[in-house]
Amino acid sequence: MRAYKSKVVTPIRLPDRDEREENLQQAGYNVFNLDSDAVFVDLLTDSGTGTMSENQWAAIMKGDEAYAGSRSFERLQSAVSDVMGFERIIPAHQGRGAENVLYGALVEDGDYVPNNTHFDTTRAHIANNGAEPVDCPRDGALGDEDEARPDEDDSAFAGDLDVEKVRELADEVGAENIPAVLVTITNNSLAGQPVSVENVREAREVADELDATFVIDACRFAENAYFVREREEEFAGESVADVAREQLSYADALVMSGKKDGLANVGGFVALRDDPELDGLHAKARERGILYEGFTTYGGMAGRDLEAMAVGLREAVEESYIEDRVSQVQRLGDMLAERDVPVQRPTGGHAVYVDAAEFLPEIPPERFPGQALVCELYREGAVRGVELGSFAFPETDRPELVRLCLPRRTYGADHLEHVAETFEEVAERRDAGEVSGLEIVEEPEMAELRHFSAELRPVGGSEERKEQGQEQEATADDD
Ligand code: F0G
Repeated sequence: MRAYKSKVVTPIRLPDRDEREENLQQAGYNVFNLDSDAVFVDLLTDSGTGTMSENQWAAIMKGDEAYAGSRSFERLQSAVSDVMGFERIIPAHQGRGAENVLYGALVEDGDYVPNNTHFDTTRAHIANNGAEPVDCPRDGALGDEDEARPDEDDSAFAGDLDVEKVRELADEVGAENIPAVLVTITNNSLAGQPVSVENVREAREVADELDATFVIDACRFAENAYFVREREEEFAGESVADVAREQLSYADALVMSGKKDGLANVGGFVALRDDPELDGLHAKARERGILYEGFTTYGGMAGRDLEAMAVGLREAVEESYIEDRVSQVQRLGDMLAERDVPVQRPTGGHAVYVDAAEFLPEIPPERFPGQALVCELYREGAVRGVELGSFAFPETDRPELVRLCLPRRTYGADHLEHVAETFEEVAERRDAGEVSGLEIVEEPEMAELRHFSAELRPVGGSEERKEQGQEQEATADDD
């Protein structure tokens, strides 16, 4: 049962079939180019798209917009201290701003930085500072073909860092070239799978062995803590708030996007432990904060944004909130699995990941089955998801995943029902041989960013025939 009722609503509309078809064409078969008005259920991301509570809106009125020494900053500081256990923070406009502040101060040319799996912006900021991001996920975490996922129990923390891989990396490149060990909770690039507290303790140990700074990307720390409480025996029966503090207590530094478990529409920060050994890093990061984000008591946010995040952080570890949040994601996963949609199980904390290669077996990888599924979901139900396969990550052998990411406190059971029904309709079209693959017709120079702006067209299916028909009609009209 939902733990909320609505007080502010945003009207949404399901465009009719012809409109959806036209929108898709105009968007170049790339849903990043769609107007949000044209989307009925928007599962593109959980980042900054959630619904704020009445207490957050009330706090916004108390925003202190002073350039320096804002009271709102103090309130954020005290929330971070209470909820996450860190005393020193450097605010930033969002997560990637915080990454730029911290990683620019922490890594340099020729370094190597291991992580359970780097999220795109993390990878980009590490690389941008001349270092090499290295993924160290557990083998077979997602049930690779050659190394099948061992058993259900083991998959409970499929997001874990493989600390042995970090040790091997150190043997290979030298511990002196590994300035930091990172762990991302939950592991967004690995189907949002959680990381155990035990694993964070091991990561702390390995960081100590290498004399490296241990950083946690905490943007989904509350969702992760919920899974720990449910699955890690030591924490059974504890509060999510206590588990979260325990898990974060092993890190030297946090990078936080407040747009996730800060329950805010914008904002982020770097947090550092109050430890004299970290004074140098703190001074450097503060300087970078001022240079790139803004003075140290606002960091690219308005005072009111600081307030909203301060309240949001406290709400994120409330039992009623987190239970509602994670169980909604699980429910969507169950609804799709019941309809034979191949989804990653167990589901992660923020999204359901669909294996598009399995769902659309007729579409070969070079025709982007994930993007084809994303387009079909829009075509059939104006549902917007995101492709995280060979279209988003060219030249990698990532699985062809489509992510359906639920904004926090935003959609209800009937919206989930609509998504599930949309999948049924896509399956019908697939079975009738009507789903076609895609090819890229225009792409930006930076391959890493192509899924944001590339344009595509359908090939080899009924859609292509329809498009060709329309082109011929247009040519006939011109004549
Ligand atoms: N770290 C992780 C694990 C993330 O998932 C994100 C953002 C960031 C850092 C960057 O934070 O967006 O505030 O700059 N993830 C979003 C997503 C965009 O859709 O998964 P940001």
